[in-house]
Amino acid sequence: MTDRLKGKRALITAAGQGIGRATAEMFVAEGAEVFASDVNPDLLSGLDCEVLTLDVRDDASVRAGVDRAQPDILFNCAGFVHHGTVLDATDEEWDFAFDLNVTAMFRTIRATLPVMLKRGGGSIVNMSSACSSVMGAPNRFVYGTTKAAVIGLTKSVAIDYIKQGIRCNAICPGTVESPSWLDRVDALGKQLGSRDKAMEQFVSRQPMGRVATATEIAALVTYLASDESAFTTGHPHIIDGGWSGQ
Ligand SMILES: NC(=O)c1ccc[n+]([C@@H]2O[C@H](COP(=O)([O-])OP(=O)(O)OC[C@H]3O[C@@H](n4cnc5c(N)ncnc54)[C@H](O)[C@@H]3O)[C@@H](O)[C@H]2O)c1
Repeated sequence: MTDRLKGKRALITAAGQGIGRATAEMFVAEGAEVFASDVNPDLLSGLDCEVLTLDVRDDASVRAGVDRAQPDILFNCAGFVHHGTVLDATDEEWDFAFDLNVTAMFRTIRATLPVMLKRGGGSIVNMSSACSSVMGAPNRFVYGTTKAAVIGLTKSVAIDYIKQGIRCNAICPGTVESPSWLDRVDALGKQLGSRDKAMEQFVSRQPMGRVATATEIAALVTYLASDESAFTTGHPHIIDGGWSGQ
C-alpha cells in the first residue's frame, strides 16, 4: 500500500536505528512528510527525509524539534533497557531510565499537543513494551516499571483529548532485532560464556521461535499513526510473537 500517511507531518524520536529508523522509512514510503530525529545525528544519515538532532532529555531541544516539524503524528520511540533486579538498580540508573523512557514523553507530548490542537487533531504513538504492566521479564525491574508508566501516561492523554481529535496509543513489542538488542545478546553471552546460549535464551521465550524485525513493529506504528485506526485510542497494543499470549 502507499499514501496511507499522505498529507501528514510526522515527528519520530530515536529514528537513527532499530524500530525508530524502520518506522521513519515506512512513514516515508506511505507518503508522510517525515522529521526523523535522534540524539546522535550521525545515525540519521541515509534517511530519505528531513533529519534533526533532538535529545528527548532536553526540553529546549524537544521544543525546537516540535517547532520545526509541526507534527500531526508523534512517535515517541526513544528508550533504554536497564538490566537487573530491584537489588541491582541504583538511584542514578532509576532516575536516568525514568527520564529517558517516561519523562521524555511528557516533554514531547507537552510540546506537541498545542500544535496538534491547532491543526485539528493528531495521533501519538508511545513506545512501551510487552515487559511492562502486560508481563514481567527477568532482570528488567527498572525497564518494566518505566514501560508500565508509559501505558498510564498514554491512557491519560487519550482520555483528556479524545474530544479534540487527538488519539494516543502505546505499543508493546516483544523482543525485536535492533543494534541495542544485539549488544544485550553480546552482554548476556559474556555472562553465560557463549553468545549462542544468550541468543537461545532470548529466542526461546518467543513462542514463534524467532524475534521480530523492526519493520514488523513499524507496520503497527504506521497503522496507529494513520486514519485507518481512527476508532482506536487509549490502548496498549501487544506485538510480541505470542510471548504474552501463552
Ligand atoms: N529491541 C527490542 O527488543 C525492544 C522491545 C520492546 C520495546 N523496545 C523499545 O523500542 C525503542 C527503540 O529500541 P530499539 O531497540 O529499536 O533501538 P536501539 O535501542 O537500538 O536505538 C535507540 C536509539 O535511541 C537513540 N537515543 C538514545 N538516547 C536518546 C535521547 N536522549 N534522545 C533521542 N534519541 C536517543 C539512540 O541514539 C538510538 O538511535 C526503545 O524505547 C525500546 O525500549 C525495544
